[in-house]
Amino acid sequence: MTRRGRIAVLQLSTRLGGPRRRGLYALVAVLVATGAAWLWLHDMRPADSLPSPIEPWMMKLHGAAALLAVYLLGTMLHGHMLNAWHRRQNRISGGVAAAAVLLLAASGYGLYYFGGDALRSATEWLHWVAGFALPPLLWWHIRSGRLAIGGHASSGRARWRRRER
Ligand code: HEM
Ligand code: HEM
Repeated sequence: MTRRGRIAVLQLSTRLGGPRRRGLYALVAVLVATGAAWLWLHDMRPADSLPSPIEPWMMKLHGAAALLAVYLLGTMLHGHMLNAWHRRQNRISGGVAAAAVLLLAASGYGLYYFGGDALRSATEWLHWVAGFALPPLLWWHIRSGRLAIGGHASSGRARWRRRER
């Protein structure tokens, strides 16, 4: 990034704001719930029986939430991720969270287009592991971000709100 670009990014706030933060939490919850429901329905079904009608609906919801999540994460790239990175704030857990969502998007693409048994099952496995790891990684990232900026995770929330006003 050029010097002027870096200065422009640093002038933004890294804070997400309530609606975007809550939107992200809701989308992650929908992604995990629909992914887990699909896996459960899929694995419980005997090999020779027809899929439950709920199975495709879980993936339709999952796909919609995935597209919205990628859009929302795109809106966070400059103001939140690059900005905090340049300020050297919360880099490790932020980098891990960003890598996890990149891996989810890449393996999500693979679930549509990769063929071959070995590649397909490796992609599925990667997607599930990154998917179930996302909530605890996000929790770690938010907690360490608040600790770094607010002092303590428990009192950080109150200080946070004051900074938001
Ligand atoms: C290089 C990548 C990243 C860096 C350096 C970074 C940095 C930070 C920092 C410094 C904080 C605490 C202060 C603040 O809110 O500004 C924070 C909080 C947060 N981050 Fe990140 N982050 C990164 C990636 C991500 C990603 C990929 C996500 C979502 C998947 C994410 C979601 C959040 C959320 C939800 C909060 C809490 C915000 C709040 O309480 O208002 N971050 N991050
Ligand atoms: C940014 C986040 C995510 C993106 C972009 C994403 C994307 C996708 C895509 C494109 C598919 C294929 C949909 C289809 O076949 O109709 C899929 C399937 C799936 N996703 Fe996600 N996903 C994300 C997060 C998650 C999370 C958090 C979980 C948690 C468990 C998860 C679990 C699953 C499962 C179980 C499947 C079905 C896998 C299969 O066909 O074997 N995903 N995802």
